[in-house]
Amino acid sequence: KMKRDFLEVTDLTREEVWRIFDRAKYFKQERSRHRQEEILAGKHLGLLFSKPSTRTRVSFEVAILELGGTPIYLAGQSTQVSRGETIKDTARVLSRYLSGLVVRTFKQEEVKEYGRWFAFPVINALTDTSHPCQALSDYFTILEKKKTFDGLCLTYIGDPNNVCNSLVLMADLLGVSIRISSPPGYPLSPLVRQQMRNPQLLKVSTDPAAFIADADVIYTDTWVSMGSESKEKERIAVFREYQVNENLLSRAKKDFLFMHCLPAHRGQEVTDTVIDGENSVVIDQAENRLHCQKALLEFLHGG
Ligand code: CP
Repeated sequence: KMKRDFLEVTDLTREEVWRIFDRAKYFKQERSRHRQEEILAGKHLGLLFSKPSTRTRVSFEVAILELGGTPIYLAGQSTQVSRGETIKDTARVLSRYLSGLVVRTFKQEEVKEYGRWFAFPVINALTDTSHPCQALSDYFTILEKKKTFDGLCLTYIGDPNNVCNSLVLMADLLGVSIRISSPPGYPLSPLVRQQMRNPQLLKVSTDPAAFIADADVIYTDTWVSMGSESKEKERIAVFREYQVNENLLSRAKKDFLFMHCLPAHRGQEVTDTVIDGENSVVIDQAENRLHCQKALLEFLHGG
């Protein structure tokens, strides 16, 4: 049987995503009953992270532990990869010790190279262009709160970054309408748009208020992603109008959800009032990373 990886949203079918949502719901319910699972019993999984992380790292470590496995955290800078050892050699060697890899790195091509050479499932824990685990648990959170995707509209405001790319591809997979407001010169990647099978689901605008009134979910993320810190001043100026604040939300539906993958930069892409307001689900969103990643691990490891 061929091993499966989760390197991009498109590595899963719509039916598989629904199966993972079902199981994530089960894991969420069971967790409060303190049930331990044996799905990863005797398995050691490596977490190879070349960028900082709070949520992804801890939720994966806890997910692996609660499924009966052992997580081994490998800071990218502390491995020989940082001194130029090839991914090919690293992945083939790690295949002799480990049963799974969770990789946070820079280029998408790097996670693909791990997928090519590592003998067991590889999970993308964020690259410069995608964050599929984030999108998976974000749509689970939307389903949990809104009960259905039928007629649902997600509006993303700000920088069309890696998280946005994965939200678009998951919207395409699940049939959710997606709207993006971003500044001139900062459009959604044409490569992502080209991958859409239902491009009619997407509308874009440079007007920050264009898609507020119809939105069931209003999502934003940092203006300064990991790797673009040198352009911080310039980016803050460009994105200023796209701040999600009370004024921008004045025409929003009463029951919209405010979402953010975190970490947030309060006072930049979102104000305290909005992120701490009653429409905000950012902490539930972070919690659901744990349940969805358990379901993903079970799916990939054939539990
Ligand atoms: N949302 C997210 O991936 O958070 P971390 O960078 O803390 O893992």
